[in-house]
Amino acid sequence: MNRRTIDRMEHTFSTIIEPFRIHSVEPLRMTTASQRADAIRDAGYNLFNLRAEDVLIDLLTDSGTGAMSRDQWAAIQHGDESYAGSPSWFRFEAAVKELFPFNHVIPTHQGRAAEKILFTALGGAGKVVPNNTHFDTTRANVEASGAEALDLVIPEGLDASLIHPFKGNMDVAALEAVLVERGADVPVVMVTVTNNSGGGQPVSLANLRAVSEVCHRYGVPFFLDACRFAENAWFIHEREAGQGDREVADIVREMASLADGMAMSAKKDPFGNIGGWLALNDDSLAERCRNLLILTEGFPTYGGLAGRDLEALAQGLKEAVHPDYLRYRIRSTAYLGDALDRAGVPVVKPIGGHAVYIDAKTLLAHIDPLQYPGQALSVAMYEMGGIRSVEIGTAMFGRQPDGSERPAAMELVRLAIPRRTYTQSHIDYVIEVVTAVAGEAASLPGYRMVYEPAALRHFTARFEPIG
Ligand code: F0G
Repeated sequence: MNRRTIDRMEHTFSTIIEPFRIHSVEPLRMTTASQRADAIRDAGYNLFNLRAEDVLIDLLTDSGTGAMSRDQWAAIQHGDESYAGSPSWFRFEAAVKELFPFNHVIPTHQGRAAEKILFTALGGAGKVVPNNTHFDTTRANVEASGAEALDLVIPEGLDASLIHPFKGNMDVAALEAVLVERGADVPVVMVTVTNNSGGGQPVSLANLRAVSEVCHRYGVPFFLDACRFAENAWFIHEREAGQGDREVADIVREMASLADGMAMSAKKDPFGNIGGWLALNDDSLAERCRNLLILTEGFPTYGGLAGRDLEALAQGLKEAVHPDYLRYRIRSTAYLGDALDRAGVPVVKPIGGHAVYIDAKTLLAHIDPLQYPGQALSVAMYEMGGIRSVEIGTAMFGRQPDGSERPAAMELVRLAIPRRTYTQSHIDYVIEVVTAVAGEAASLPGYRMVYEPAALRHFTARFEPIG
């Protein structure tokens, strides 16, 4: 065939090809409506309390749930379990520094362990830590140290339906105002890429440059919460002026170069089932962090990880920045979001990188925020089709440090997409189920919380439907 015809037609095909074929499969277990009704009642209407085998499509999280590649499984065979100085550690450290050239890399078993160490070293009563939006464990670790966690995302980031290319950006003027007023109380400024609790929205390179500049002008260290760095870099590549010709890895290195350090959960973009790290430039802070690491995680050349985990991550980091993968990843998330949008389900727009966020405040406007509309929607999607999602709203964020309860800024339900795990037909099924539930929205009940723990209540809280 004529080459020009092929070139012209190639770009008209809209099917998203998963850039892999399947090499090992896990069975899914089908359930009946009455089995699901029993399971969710026994779980106290909290989807975290379900047995995973009672879930058909598990969109609870994209964390640790991705499929590892053939090359990652092969790398695991190279795992060297020496207590100190394992070659697996050196391969891991080199892979991290290839993308994030910080002086010190401190391995942890997952992201929150890195946060715990960082805020134990830097937090404390009277301090305030700004972030675009703290993730729940990040907020909890800041607050557990006695410090205040302050969310400073741009106002556009709080409007679910407003289209903006970088809704995860930090409000730089608001940040500067905090630094003017309380600079001495700010031990670190963090930016979360992509902004998970704010809809998986990216942060632009221009915004990172501006935040970096303000922080350094006031002498405050700037850290990334970088779990989804590759997805963020892909959005920069796609959306930011002048970035389209750059390699993703190069964009990632620039993101890192603007910061003084990072906290990382390697269970996201690097395709780990477990893992994380802290990386930073400051020698004395690194020493304090390593001392804390040894208390709870382990020796500095393995942290909380086995040698085989370090190997899987070193390989996963290389795969995370591959353009074929990232194009598929971001397009397939948008495929779900765009279909729900077309079906009239209110979703956070534009569609984020790792998840689709349904705006439960709009869909279930008849349910008061203190009766957890997001929880109501999550429960209904499980009952209807065995889909597990997570509420990111008042059940997650409503309890205040002073003990009061107040509505969260947004009532979202997140459908997080595990990496390389589900096919397009799984997602087509999700679209059908969610659309069917949305059609019944007006009949869904609110919930009351009948048990709540002292911290991070959404994980173990129990609920009852009202009426
Ligand atoms: N920061 C962000 C932005 C996160 O999304 C997470 C985890 C963490 C830190 C903590 O990392 O789980 O390895 O300890 N997010 C998962 C989620 C749990 O479902 O979004 P971790």
